[in-house]
Amino acid sequence: MVLLPRHYALLLTLSRILLDTSVSGAVLPRQSSVEVFDYVIVGAGIGGSVLARRLSDDARVSVLLLEAGLSGEADETIQIPYVYERLFQSKYDYNYTLTPQPNLDGRILTYFRGKALGGSTSINGVTYTKGPASYWDKFAAYMGDDSWSWAGVQQYFAKIEAFEPPTSPPSSFPPLFNSSAHSSHGQISISLNAPASSSNSTWIVPPIMSAAHEIGIPYNTDGNSGTPLGVSWQQFTIGNGTRSSAWTGYLAGVRRDNLEVRVESTATRVRRSHGAGVRYDVVEYTDAFGETITVQATKDVILTAGVVDTPALLMRSGLGPACVLEAAGIPVEMDIPAVGQNFVEHIGLPMTWSVSSPTNTSLTEPITDDALDNDLPVYNPELAKWRESRTGRLTQTSLSHIIFGRVPENATIWQDDEISSRANNGGSWMNSDPAWRSDGPHYEQIVSNKWTSLVPSPGSGRHVGVTHFVTCPTSVGSITLNTTHPMAQPLINPNSLNTTWDRFVLRHAIRNTLRYMNASAWRAYNITPMFERLTEQSGDEEVDAFIRANAFGGAHGVSTARMGPASSPPGSDVVRPDFRVKGVEGLRIVDASAVPFMPNGHSMAVLYVVAEKAADIIRSGNAA
Ligand SMILES: Cc1cc2nc3c(=O)[nH]c(=O)nc-3n(C[C@H](O)[C@H](O)[C@H](O)COP(=O)(O)OP(=O)(O)OC[C@H]3O[C@@H](n4cnc5c(N)ncnc54)[C@H](O)[C@@H]3O)c2cc1C
Ligand SMILES: *[C@@H]1O[C@H](CO)[C@@H](O)[C@H](O)[C@H]1NC(C)=O
Ligand SMILES: *[C@@H]1O[C@H](CO)[C@@H](O)[C@H](O)[C@H]1NC(C)=O
Ligand SMILES: *[C@@H]1O[C@H](CO)[C@@H](O)[C@H](O)[C@H]1NC(C)=O
Ligand SMILES: *[C@@H]1O[C@H](CO)[C@@H](O)[C@H](O)[C@H]1NC(C)=O
Ligand SMILES: *[C@@H]1O[C@H](CO)[C@@H](O)[C@H](O)[C@H]1NC(C)=O
Ligand SMILES: *[C@@H]1O[C@H](CO)[C@@H](O)[C@H](O)[C@H]1NC(C)=O
Ligand SMILES: *[C@@H]1O[C@H](CO)[C@@H](O)[C@H](O)[C@H]1NC(C)=O
Ligand SMILES: *[C@@H]1O[C@H](CO)[C@@H](O)[C@H](O)[C@H]1NC(C)=O
Ligand SMILES: *[C@@H]1O[C@H](CO)[C@@H](O)[C@H](O)[C@H]1NC(C)=O
Repeated sequence: MVLLPRHYALLLTLSRILLDTSVSGAVLPRQSSVEVFDYVIVGAGIGGSVLARRLSDDARVSVLLLEAGLSGEADETIQIPYVYERLFQSKYDYNYTLTPQPNLDGRILTYFRGKALGGSTSINGVTYTKGPASYWDKFAAYMGDDSWSWAGVQQYFAKIEAFEPPTSPPSSFPPLFNSSAHSSHGQISISLNAPASSSNSTWIVPPIMSAAHEIGIPYNTDGNSGTPLGVSWQQFTIGNGTRSSAWTGYLAGVRRDNLEVRVESTATRVRRSHGAGVRYDVVEYTDAFGETITVQATKDVILTAGVVDTPALLMRSGLGPACVLEAAGIPVEMDIPAVGQNFVEHIGLPMTWSVSSPTNTSLTEPITDDALDNDLPVYNPELAKWRESRTGRLTQTSLSHIIFGRVPENATIWQDDEISSRANNGGSWMNSDPAWRSDGPHYEQIVSNKWTSLVPSPGSGRHVGVTHFVTCPTSVGSITLNTTHPMAQPLINPNSLNTTWDRFVLRHAIRNTLRYMNASAWRAYNITPMFERLTEQSGDEEVDAFIRANAFGGAHGVSTARMGPASSPPGSDVVRPDFRVKGVEGLRIVDASAVPFMPNGHSMAVLYVVAEKAADIIRSGNAA
C-alpha cells in the first residue's frame, strides 16, 4: 500500500464526493463490507473522550471513536506540563491560521488546535476555570432549563474533578483554595502550583499578592467556587506532576470489547445510508494509508471534532449555509444557516517586563523560569527529576495566580449605544452587561514567571509577563470553507476587536496591568518594560496601536454549531437541547461548537460539563 500524503488523499476523497450521485439523493447499493456500531464518534477531544467512556460503560452498546491525529499517548512532550509550548506547530497541531485581521494590523495569526488523543487538552495550557456562576445561570436562562444553572451543573463538576490539594504550602499564605468547592473522585486531576516553602519559585508570590492589594484587587480564596473576581491561586489540569487530558482522564488504560479507538482516521463526510430519509448514519473517513473507509451507526453519529472541524465537516457533507456550500461547489443537502456562524473567541495580549535583584536585601532573589528555557544545565536536572519522581520545576507552567476583573460601573462604555441597546436585541434573558451579572468578569490577567510575548525570548535575562484576555467579548466571527479548496483548512475569522466593547475592555485591562506592575512590590525588583513606552497615562490611540501590533486571537473558540432552545427561531442555531442536529436524524454534536456562549474564563471546564451532561442525556434515551 502506497502511503499518500494526507492532503492528496483528501483531495481524492473530495473529487469522489463531488462525483458521487448519492450526495443528491440516489439510493446507495447496500455495502456488505460496511462496519456497524451503535455509536460512531468523530474526534477524541473532550466530547469524544468523555462520550466514548460514558457510553461504553453500558456493555450492550458498541462504540467506535475516530481520531484524525496520532496517538501521542506515550509522548513525554505531552505529559510534561512545562513544555506545552513545544507542542505548538508540532505534529500534534493542525497548524491553522486565522484570516488576516483588519483590527490587528492585518496580521495572519496562528490558531492552535490539538491533533492527538485528547484533542486540544493534550496541547493546551492546562488552566482550569469553571466560570462564574453567572455564566451557567445565563446558559440556563437562554435554554429555559434550570439544569444548566450553576447549581444544576455541580453534579457534573463532581464527576470531572479529582482535586489534589497542595501537600506543603508555605504556612505564611492565607488559605489557597476552598475545599467545599471541589470533588476528589472525578476523572481529571486538578491541582495548584503552590510551591513548597523551600522552593525558589515562591519569590513571585509576595509581589503578585501585595501589588494586587496595593491597587485594590481583592484576594479571592478560590476563583473556582463560582465567584472568580480578584486574585486567586490558579488551578490546573495537572496530577502527580503530569498533564491530565481528556484522554488520560477518561480513556487511557480502558480496555473494553465494546469500544474501539482508531487514530490517524480523518472523517471526510457524514451522509445518509438511504437516500429518502434524513438519517445521517454513515461516516466516511480516510485512514493512514489514504484509504476511504465507511462505517455506520445504528444509534448516533456524534461529531466531537471541535470548533473548527465540526462545522467544516458538516459543510463538506452538504449541511450548512447554502451560500457557502454553493460557492464551494458542494451540493446542498440541507440549508442550515448557523453552521460556521456565531464564532466567538477571546482576544489575548501578552506583555513582558525584566526583573533584577531587589534593592531591599530582605526580599528573595527573583528565580524566574527563563533559565529553564535558555540554559540546558538548568533544564536537564529538572528533566531528570521529572522522569525520576514527577517532581521539580517541569511540573508547572510558570503560572501560579489568576486575576479576574470588571470594567468599573462609572466607565463611559456603559453609555455607548452598542452596550445600552443589547438588552433589546437578544430576547428576555439578555441584558446590557456582556458578563450578564456582577459576579462575572470582563477580563483576565495572568502573571507568568518568565518571558511572555509573541516575540521570541532574547535567550537570556529574567522576566515577568502578564497575559490578558477579554473574557466576555462581543465580537462575532465565522468559520467557512475555502471555496476553491474545500478540503483545505477552513477560513477561521474571529473578527477580532470588531466591537467598541472589546476594544474598551482590552484597553482598560492593559491600563490596569500598567498600574499593577507599577506597584512598589514590583518596583522593588526594578521592573522594566520590554515593550515600547506605554504608561498608565498613555492615550487611547497609543494603547490601540499597541493592541493592534501585539494582540492575538485566543484559543477558546465556541458556538460554530451552537445549541438553542427547542423554541428558537429557525436558522438561528444548529442543535437542539438534546444535542441533535435540528432537522436531521441520527446526528449529534457534543463539543465547543455546540456551546451557545463564550465561556467567561478558559473553555476546557465548560466543555467537560457539556460532554458529561450530553452523556447523561444520550444514555437516558437508551434506557427508555
Ligand atoms: C494552545 C491551546 C491552549 C489552550 N489553553 C487552555 C487552557 O489553558 N485552559 C482551558 O480551559 N482551555 C484551553 N484551551 C482550550 C481548550 O483546550 C479547548 O477549548 C478544548 O480542548 C476544545 O475541546 P473540543 O472537544 O471541542 O475540541 P478539540 O479538543 O479540539 O478536539 C477535537 C478532536 O477532534 C479531532 N478531529 C478533528 N477533525 C476530525 C476529523 N475530521 N476526523 C476525526 N477526528 C477529527 C481532532 O484531531 C481533535 O483531537 C486551549 C486550546 C489550545 C489550542
Ligand atoms: C505542523 O507544522 C510543523 C512544522 O512545520 C510540522 O512539523 C507538523 O507536522 C505540522 N503538523 C501537522 C499535523 O501536519
Ligand atoms: C466555598 O465553596 C462553597 C461551595 O461552592 C460555597 O458555598 C462557599 O461560599 C465557599 N466559601 C468561600 C469562603 O468562598
Ligand atoms: C535556589 O536558587 C539557588 C541559586 O540559583 C540555587 O543554588 C538553589 O539550589 C535553588 N534552590 C532550590 C530549592 O531550587
Ligand atoms: C524590605 O522588605 C521587607 C519585606 O517585604 C519589608 O518588611 C521592609 O519594609 C522593606 N524595607 C524597605 C526599606 O523597603
Ligand atoms: C506519580 O508518578 C510516579 C513516577 O512515575 C509514580 O512512581 C507514582 O506512583 C505516581 N503517584 C501517583 C499517586 O500516581
Ligand atoms: C470613576 O470613579 C473613580 C473613583 O471612584 C474615579 O477615579 C474615576 O475618575 C471615575 N471615572 C469616570 C470615567 O468617571
Ligand atoms: C484556499 O486553499 C488554497 C490551497 O491550499 C490556497 O492557495 C488559497 O490561498 C486558499 N484560499 C484562501 C482564501 O485562504
Ligand atoms: C465589524 O464587522 C463587520 C462585519 O464583518 C464589518 O462590516 C465592520 O467593518 C467591522 N467593524 C470594525 C470596526 O471592525
Ligand atoms: C508609575 O507611577 C508613577 C507615579 O507614581 C508615574 O509617574 C509613572 O508614569 C508610572 N509608570 C507607568 C509605567 O505607568
